Amino acid sequence: MITRFSCGALRASDAGAAVELNGWVNRRRDHGGLIFVDLRDRDGVTQIVFDPTHVSFKDAEHLRNEDVLRITGTVRKRPAGTENSTLATGEIEVGIDSLEILNRSQVPPFQINVDADVDVDLRLEYRYLDLRRPRMQNNIILRHKIVKTMRDFFDERGFVEIETPMLIKSTPEGARDYLVPSRLYPGEFYALPQSPQLLKQICMIAGFGKYMQIARCMRDEDQRADRQPEFTQLDVEMSFTNQEDVIETMESCIRRVWKNVLGVDLAPFPRLTYDDAMNKYGIDKPDLRFGLELAQVNDIFAGTDFVVFKSVIDTEGAIVALRYPGGASLSRRDFDALTEEAKTAGARGMVWVALGADGVKSSAQKFINDDHVAKLRSATQSETGDAILLFADARAHALAVAGKMRNAVGERCGLRDPKQFSFCWVLDFPYLEVDDETGKAYPAHHPFTSPGEGQWQYLHTDPLKMRAQHYDMVLNGYELGSGSIRIHKPEEQRAIFEMLGMTPQQIQDQFGFFVKALEYGAPPHGGMALGIDRIVMLAAGENHLRDVIAFPKNQSARDVMMDAPSAVPEQLLRDLYLKSTAPPPPDQAAGR
Ligand code: AMO
Repeated sequence: MITRFSCGALRASDAGAAVELNGWVNRRRDHGGLIFVDLRDRDGVTQIVFDPTHVSFKDAEHLRNEDVLRITGTVRKRPAGTENSTLATGEIEVGIDSLEILNRSQVPPFQINVDADVDVDLRLEYRYLDLRRPRMQNNIILRHKIVKTMRDFFDERGFVEIETPMLIKSTPEGARDYLVPSRLYPGEFYALPQSPQLLKQICMIAGFGKYMQIARCMRDEDQRADRQPEFTQLDVEMSFTNQEDVIETMESCIRRVWKNVLGVDLAPFPRLTYDDAMNKYGIDKPDLRFGLELAQVNDIFAGTDFVVFKSVIDTEGAIVALRYPGGASLSRRDFDALTEEAKTAGARGMVWVALGADGVKSSAQKFINDDHVAKLRSATQSETGDAILLFADARAHALAVAGKMRNAVGERCGLRDPKQFSFCWVLDFPYLEVDDETGKAYPAHHPFTSPGEGQWQYLHTDPLKMRAQHYDMVLNGYELGSGSIRIHKPEEQRAIFEMLGMTPQQIQDQFGFFVKALEYGAPPHGGMALGIDRIVMLAAGENHLRDVIAFPKNQSARDVMMDAPSAVPEQLLRDLYLKSTAPPPPDQAAGR
């Protein structure tokens, strides 16, 4: 009897078995009269041996990488000394009985059997080939396991998965909406959800109590390595809850994922306030794999003649110091390059102090005396051999720049080990943030977040002082997710919209349906959403979301495999009452 196996399954104990294997030619080698074919599927690779006396030998001579085969054969132990300990199937091979070529492949545009660097757009154009590579297969399977563990976790805790619609009304979450024109209602549009925020809150009003969804979200925003226009959230909402309850639920879920999928026991996540995070790390998503806490050192330079520092002290800005372990060995040219990097990060300039064993050197030598050096050492916990970098500016700006440079220094010093997982919670966010460019205040989370206890008093007097019941989960410097306790009283929701400058008519037009729902017995509720793509990316040790999403967009938000977005026939536009005013795309204009 012939039994079908995957290409990763056979072991020495199967010797003598008659087997069928299906897969792709990973590699063919002609050797001393024998032909060896490594047959690959998602489980692994098995070596098939063709003997010159066998009828299929001629066909085997013409096999090329990525041809699709079905073979039958007999499992045998490899001759002593030819075992391959790097393969799970490395102790055996399969002697050919029959070969069926199920399909031929063109020569692939890049190699699939080696993990080489391939141009990203080429990978994405031939995504089906890219996905055949073991690294990508492992990432996508890891994603499946993570999502499965999440679903099981919430199912055990009594959560109901509810699908919310893709065609909705625009619900602002800070990004631009993707719009879908309506054929039946000329001139009107659906929006694709940026997240199911209002719908999950309405599920609470509808009495489901505990909601979860593996939710697809669409945001038309600038692309980065950790952003995609389409992404997936683990979206959660709970009634009659509080911040502690949501934090416990989400942390337990992540702890279960790391334990079950990666075999890692996570320690309880440390908690920081937003203010602590900003003061110590200059950022609200600190990378806690390393220390290098920032120090504000205005006091050390009180009375200085150095104009840059003096003017910052006089205007109540901040001089922020950052330790660079081992940085004393950098050359002047290295420090110049680092200064340029700081400028790209937004710094006006950078002062460095190198604590060399043979003496202290600085880019502001004239203004740095022994007393400054001693105090800087102690403020930053620096040692001989280190350097100290100083950034002086308006306080928030100096901290933000120093925060970015802290990450850069961590990277240069090899302190950002992708196999180390440093989670934390950031709590007590301000309700509002101010846009640097427009000067306009907008919610740090979203306008459905409830202010913290005792915070309503600032609504009309000093709204920038108001704190929110908003919490973020952070891992290795990435924001994994955000959540909040929500407003559940209609009059409070209206008051927040009004504080944000909306007129009663605008509130009615945009959120009338939601405020109305709050009027029918909305329970107190709160929740959170975690970015699944980011979770999988970090769990897989990847640096790019595209490496954990089966069919991602490229850096310019294009699907280069399908070639989307693309122009559509005139008739389709007419049916939708649309007329494009855009200039023709460059390749059309060039007549291609
Ligand atoms: P927020 O907008 O903070 O909150 O999103 C939650 C998490 O979703 C992930 N994320 C992204 N991942 C990939 N590409 C993107 N473009 C992208 N944008 C966001 C991040 C982020 O932390 N409705 C609220 C949640 C709530 O209050 O319950 C929300 O969507 O990991």
